[in-house]
Amino acid sequence: MNAKSTPTSSTQADPATDAPARESQNDSNAMWGGRFSQAPDSLMEAINVSIGFDKRLYAQDIVGSIAHCKMLVDQKILDADAGDQIISGLGKIREEIEQGKFEFKNSLEDIHLNIEGRLTEIIGADAGRLHTARSRNDQVATDFKLWVRDTIDAVDDALKALQFALIEQAEKNAATVMPGFTHLQAAQPVTTGHHLLAYVEMLGRDRGRFRDARARLNESPLGSAALAGTSFPINREQTAKALGFDRPTANSLDAVSDRDFALEFLSAAAITALHLSRLGEEIVIWCSAQFSFAKLSDAFTTGSSIMPQKRNPDAAELVRGKSGRIIGSLIGLITVMKGLPLAYSKDMQEDKEPVFDAAESLGVCIAAMTGMIGDIEFNIDRLRVAAGEGFTTATDLADWLVRVLNLPFRNAHHITGELVGIAEKSGRSLDELTLEEMQTVEGQITEDVFSVLGVAESVASRTSYGGTAPDNVMAQVKSARERFL
Ligand code: ARG
Repeated sequence: MNAKSTPTSSTQADPATDAPARESQNDSNAMWGGRFSQAPDSLMEAINVSIGFDKRLYAQDIVGSIAHCKMLVDQKILDADAGDQIISGLGKIREEIEQGKFEFKNSLEDIHLNIEGRLTEIIGADAGRLHTARSRNDQVATDFKLWVRDTIDAVDDALKALQFALIEQAEKNAATVMPGFTHLQAAQPVTTGHHLLAYVEMLGRDRGRFRDARARLNESPLGSAALAGTSFPINREQTAKALGFDRPTANSLDAVSDRDFALEFLSAAAITALHLSRLGEEIVIWCSAQFSFAKLSDAFTTGSSIMPQKRNPDAAELVRGKSGRIIGSLIGLITVMKGLPLAYSKDMQEDKEPVFDAAESLGVCIAAMTGMIGDIEFNIDRLRVAAGEGFTTATDLADWLVRVLNLPFRNAHHITGELVGIAEKSGRSLDELTLEEMQTVEGQITEDVFSVLGVAESVASRTSYGGTAPDNVMAQVKSARERFL
């Protein structure tokens, strides 16, 4: 740590005694320093400052201030001239920020005070009228809600694009057979289209969670002021409407201390990230030499600096890895919030970085996954062979015994188990057993049994609603397009 920034440093003045304290009075915070005689310690600034990250809220802060200012004018709380000056000053500040000309100052703590500070430089003391009937507490809640709302909309678009890529691949691979696993043990053959559409469903629920969060978020905190509301005759309906909110929040204490919207965003993000992580994990497995189920394009693969043969699925691994970080953001903020008394506490400034970080990570994960799915190539021949490995049509054989010989399923299961044992001992698959061998276990078995032992027949037979048959996949592709795209 820099010695200069320690509280015991000789550069710090004792507020009660010596002259430098009076000097530092001039440095006391211009926005809230009226009752202070000493400037903040540099460590105070270090722990308090948020401009480094909350500058991202500049656009929301400016539209929020413009809506507030117009309302103050309409309500005759602020005269129209001052209102016009404030609004044009805010417009200029937005330009300065967007052109990279704005000087963000740590001494002004956060985005709200940086903008107000600059407004004062531009229009003079009338800038100070903007904060009438408002507090940074309702201001930051409003800004952050607007930011999360915009982000939810962007995430929804991105998830839709990923669903599109998955649905296209599902259609192409509606009849591509592959092994279906439980316990990562070969279970029954499935179609690759069916497998991919499973993720389309997950992402559909994810989008639903973001939509629900957005609907609950969409109440305006603006006008709740510090915590208790205000004595000025404000019109909260007007500012709510101007900012695209459905209505103002009903309770000022709740409005300034609620971060449910951030937690709901992070919860939805965490669940989405976990879905992406599972798909990332599958891609990693599929692309291993041992599985060889699929190949990622060169665009989403990296080489090894020592092993020339390697094609590493780094992007899929990072999607898996970043999910940990997104889940961590949820855990972090939920922990920050859990012990806070009403209403606002500064702890709540810790809400932004996890949300910004999770949003950024989620955005890049969804985009990378969309790229990978767009051009992944499935190894259809290898998948067909693998689909039959591990006696995956054993259930089809048992079902045949039930359907054709009318055996109870438990007996059929037992008989099939014996046949699997014979095949396994002799290193053959079920359809390589002879009819005679089968009949030694169950005398009534006929030649017809072979019609259900192939993997293509197996998947084609699974036509129950939601099942894996290629015809179902085509119907589900159509339905998914209607529901999601
Ligand atoms: N930067 C603060 C935050 O993000 C703004 C609100 C500060 N309010 C206050 N009374 N100090 O939470």
